[in-house]
Amino acid sequence: MTSMNGKHFITTQDWSKEELDKALELSFELKGKKKAGEITNWLTNQTVFMLFYEQSTRTRNSMGCGITQLGGNSHDLTPDKMQLSHGETAKDTAIVLSRMGHAIACRNCFYDVGNRYLREMAKHSEVPILSLQDDFYHPMQVMADTMVMQEKFGKNLKGLKVTISWAYATSHAKPLSVPQSQIQMFTRYGMDVTVAAPKEFPLMPDLVDTAKRNASECGGSLNFVDDMDAGFEGAHVVIPKNWGGFAGLSDWADDEAHRNEMKNNLGKYKDWICDSRRMNLADKDVKYMHALPADRGNEVTDEVIDSEKWSIIYDEAENRLHTAKAIMAMTMGASK
Ligand code: CP
Repeated sequence: MTSMNGKHFITTQDWSKEELDKALELSFELKGKKKAGEITNWLTNQTVFMLFYEQSTRTRNSMGCGITQLGGNSHDLTPDKMQLSHGETAKDTAIVLSRMGHAIACRNCFYDVGNRYLREMAKHSEVPILSLQDDFYHPMQVMADTMVMQEKFGKNLKGLKVTISWAYATSHAKPLSVPQSQIQMFTRYGMDVTVAAPKEFPLMPDLVDTAKRNASECGGSLNFVDDMDAGFEGAHVVIPKNWGGFAGLSDWADDEAHRNEMKNNLGKYKDWICDSRRMNLADKDVKYMHALPADRGNEVTDEVIDSEKWSIIYDEAENRLHTAKAIMAMTMGASK
């Protein structure tokens, strides 16, 4: 495990397939040990700083619980608790925190800012930088997603037909990071991935190119459709979720004009909801996934998300704990 000690975790693409496999194997081991009530004090007295620029339920608590269960502790930080609010830089913050603790975990989803912020921290930190989600990627989420698919469909996911669909939501313009990390991760595992989205809600071309390369190297596929029904047909797994139209605008600026344009585009697609009619277009044993929080009544009907037959959202969310523990154990030099 020590070979991964000190490694940053900002995208799954930065890790080899062998390293990702190892992380998933360790996640299964840790899940088994927790269920058996075994103590796993592998990171005794180690501290992970968790810096959240945005709200979080699953990521905050999987990391906080996870490090406690590994024998360490966390500091739950937000910019207003720190000198970041007075303009202290990512560089100075990273250097200072890395002289004190053992990992710095950060969520910064501001579009065109977040990933650069994490990379800047990584450039200067002496300890691993762990992404808790940025504007482009959510690597912790897709570890849990892959683990739950392995639990439901077996360890070899090659040929699994997975549809990542855009869905309508009114809660907020969600980042591109979940679908973008999913296309990159799932193609590494040889899955046949379909992305269904209206033309105004594309994913970023560079990331799509990487996922296409993954697919051709790993024996899977990546296809795009602009029709939700067509996307659902025959799928073994559907993951309908909203994302903002950031990449569909020619030049993004965080101003009223761009936000209005995204809002107008959003209003055209209120019928992009995951309901039982659409679930019945998919494979008869189809599973419904969502990173959560879900916008019930807009992204998905209660009938689908609460369905015992279809929905695996709570297993998916639980796996955030086991996979976060595995990533921390591997990057923070666990002794086991
Ligand atoms: N899926 C996810 O990252 O959830 P939170 O925003 O609650 O952390």
